[in-house]
Amino acid sequence: MNLPHRPRRNRRTPAIRSLVRETSLSPADFILPMFFHEDAEDTPIASMPGVTRWSVESLVKEAGEAHALGIPAIVLFPKIEESQKTPLAEECANDEGLVPRAIRAIKTAHPTLCVITDVALDPYNSDGHDGVVIRDERGELEILNDETVRVLIEQALCHARAGADIVSPSDMMDGRVAAIRQALDDEGYEDVSILSYTAKYASAFYGPFRGALDSAPKDGDKKTYQMDPGNAREAIRELQHDEAEGADMVMVKPAGPYLDIITRIRESTTLPVAAYQVSGEYLMLKSASAAGWLDEKAIVLESLLGIKRAGADIILTYFAKQAAGWLK
Ligand code: PBG
Repeated sequence: MNLPHRPRRNRRTPAIRSLVRETSLSPADFILPMFFHEDAEDTPIASMPGVTRWSVESLVKEAGEAHALGIPAIVLFPKIEESQKTPLAEECANDEGLVPRAIRAIKTAHPTLCVITDVALDPYNSDGHDGVVIRDERGELEILNDETVRVLIEQALCHARAGADIVSPSDMMDGRVAAIRQALDDEGYEDVSILSYTAKYASAFYGPFRGALDSAPKDGDKKTYQMDPGNAREAIRELQHDEAEGADMVMVKPAGPYLDIITRIRESTTLPVAAYQVSGEYLMLKSASAAGWLDEKAIVLESLLGIKRAGADIILTYFAKQAAGWLK
């Protein structure tokens, strides 16, 4: 055949393919989400095979291993004792609580590791919601926006005092980025960054995570604050607010089923874009690999590459350590 264009020439050898590759993964792209609790024992998480809820001591050790593999950051998710959960989630701002103690221990052992904290009330709230809950006259649940933001400010300040590098509001209340920015600046924490969960969808893919922390809503769902999975333009609206309110980085969550949202956000902002490969995505890949139905290394790296190619600069993934090991 007389073919002037033969795209296969650019795929002919590994060397040529490496020259023309548009997207590649690095451990430096990853944030490792980590679960921990007050107990001295480490506990395997039944809803997330291969993931452990650590004691604070093991958390520090594991965080150091992740850092040594080239992973620059972790994000902390505490399991709070049932007895410490209250309607107003007061424990979330206790300077001697589990999270601030963990931040101090990690920063002392690994000062160069970036410590990110989740700002939301669900682990602390006796209702299992990200915000403060009341019932209206008809007995319907209502998640109070402004009251919640007041508590989130205290939680973010508590994390900053303990030495967090980045606070990450995952609650989806309106106006929380501006309120947290203002409070951090007023208290002299102008160097603490905000990674905002900008487009966080009301997703069934969070199920295994709520099992890991016993943090599922006791009643109702999260659809009055997390976004409707059918909406894409609304993600841009949230982005515009977060940018105006002073977010340093923005996030899309989940990642794999929302690649179009990652791309749209990427094209609409100059801020760094993060994407969260959530617990349900992890579980799908892990369980299919464990059954021998998929090749784990190949499928995980391809799923992460797809998220990066869609436009994510940063990927939160439970596979961070494994993937970093494979990429070495
Ligand atoms: C809580 C929070 C959730 C996740 C991260 N932060 C659960 C939720 O919103 O219900 C989910 C992460 C995952 O599924 O891996 N605000």
